[in-house]
Amino acid sequence: MSSSYLTLNSNQPLTHLDLLAMKQRSEKITCLTAYDASFAALIDTTGIEVILVGDSLGMVIQGHATTLPVKIDDMIYHTRCVTKTCKRALLIADLPFMTYATPESAAQNAARLIQDGGAQMVKLEGAKIEIVQFLVAQGISVCGHLGLLPQFIHQLGGYKVQGKLAEAAEKLLTDALEIQSAGATMLILECVPADLARQITEKLTIPVIGIGAGRKCDGQVLVVYDMLGISTGKRPRFSKNFLSDTNSIESALKNYFNAVKKGEFPTAAHSF
Ligand code: KIV
Repeated sequence: MSSSYLTLNSNQPLTHLDLLAMKQRSEKITCLTAYDASFAALIDTTGIEVILVGDSLGMVIQGHATTLPVKIDDMIYHTRCVTKTCKRALLIADLPFMTYATPESAAQNAARLIQDGGAQMVKLEGAKIEIVQFLVAQGISVCGHLGLLPQFIHQLGGYKVQGKLAEAAEKLLTDALEIQSAGATMLILECVPADLARQITEKLTIPVIGIGAGRKCDGQVLVVYDMLGISTGKRPRFSKNFLSDTNSIESALKNYFNAVKKGEFPTAAHSF
């Protein structure tokens, strides 16, 4: 890894302000999921700026077909494992399915992820504007998540690209702006056309991290098991096996970090 990208200098823990500064100076933000202390240590020492304890753990760790069975206690357990070795990266944890249906339940469960798990920020799916506002008013940092929403899979009817039609694209842009106005400090965009993701990224002042959203987002996130080629099932089109060209997990992580920083990942082949 070229340490020239570590312009945020030192091993000081990163905050959302560091990520905002990266967006402002057009430095790409790197993010990977982690669910345990060993992977978190490797990812953190690579210089990757954000670690997400995603509820994708329901699929890649627990072996479920969807993320829906994941419980708040599962998220706290895995977040606590990651916290042990995540020294520099900003640590985000997902609020799982049905844990933020009301402002009160959202605040209680977010507080558990922060107090018991050690998360710095919580992520929730959809344009839940009132929930975001309520959490932010309690002092909780929030990351939004729009586009393909795995927790809505039964409503969506499958893992499909979102925002392809003009009306849906317009709604995604409006939702993104409202999530930002509600006080979210970051947004994840999953599986949306690259040009729409570019427009949203340009309109928003907060960092926009893409997964299957083209290379014009402010940063990229992948599920770590997908990018190491060890997930069961078919690799999603937007992911890439970074382990296949090298002989160690450390090198694969560095290659991902460098490819995102240089704008070499994702390519058109990983985008929609
Ligand atoms: O749960 C997860 O890992 C996620 C990423 C795919 C963005 O939400």
